[in-house]
Amino acid sequence: MHRIVFLGPPGAGKGTQAATLAQELGVPHLSTGDLLRTAVRERSPLGIEAEGYMRAGRLVPDDLVLRLIRERLARPEAARGFLLDGFPRNRAQAEALESVTAIDRVVAFEIDPTLLIRRLGDRRVCPICATVYNLTTRPPKVDGRCDLDQAPLVHRPDDRPEAIRTRLEVYREETAPLEAFYRERGLLRPVRADGTPGEVAARVRSVVAEATPGETRTTSPPTKRPSQ
Ligand code: AP5
Repeated sequence: MHRIVFLGPPGAGKGTQAATLAQELGVPHLSTGDLLRTAVRERSPLGIEAEGYMRAGRLVPDDLVLRLIRERLARPEAARGFLLDGFPRNRAQAEALESVTAIDRVVAFEIDPTLLIRRLGDRRVCPICATVYNLTTRPPKVDGRCDLDQAPLVHRPDDRPEAIRTRLEVYREETAPLEAFYRERGLLRPVRADGTPGEVAARVRSVVAEATPGETRTTSPPTKRPSQ
């Protein structure tokens, strides 16, 4: 069973790695950021409430995010495992998660903050399928268009310098303490997030492939990855 949490600051590469790893493991990639952005785009009541917090780089209130994630974890496709990306983000969310499911592994992305700012400044995303690009390290084939659905790529509103500063501060204050929370439970696996996406993917795979106590190795062999 792969019940995995990706923990790490904004721009560390969680979404990039989660998209491929979830596919390899055959588990759903549950990104609260992507789910919230979809809600904002669709102008659902949840999206309308969340939008201001997201634009400013602040956390969306726990009750909204918990409702969203509980609903996803209850779906049949999550019964064989899941990869949580961007959740939990504070102690209250981590405790709520513990009350609904066990976790096998928490992968903590570690990276120099200056690299994060550069990555976020150059990030472009597809608003339709959420594929993540980078003007420097992973440009689209056609300038400004998604490779998969040709939608015009966007610069996320929270990738502006002021919102990035707030997000990094929020991460330090509210999310980083979860490293201790999961270390105490023996679940934390730090992974260096510098280097190419392929190098980071290899490090992530090796910690995910470790057997949990009392379990035989269940990781699928690596399958093809999209070129980065
Ligand atoms: P969310 O979408 O979760 O944003 P985040 O955690 O800040 O993470 P990012 O998506 O910015 O970065 P990432 O680590 O996924 O990096 P990526 O792979 O894209 O959350 C957004 C907002 O939603 C929050 O601020 C909050 O308001 C709200 N929210 C979400 N979850 C919430 C929760 N649980 N509770 C409350 N509120 C919540 O990579 C970044 C760039 O770098 C890309 O351009 C990529 O191509 C490039 N890149 C990636 N890896 C490499 C590499 N190895 N080398 C070079 N470039 C790379």
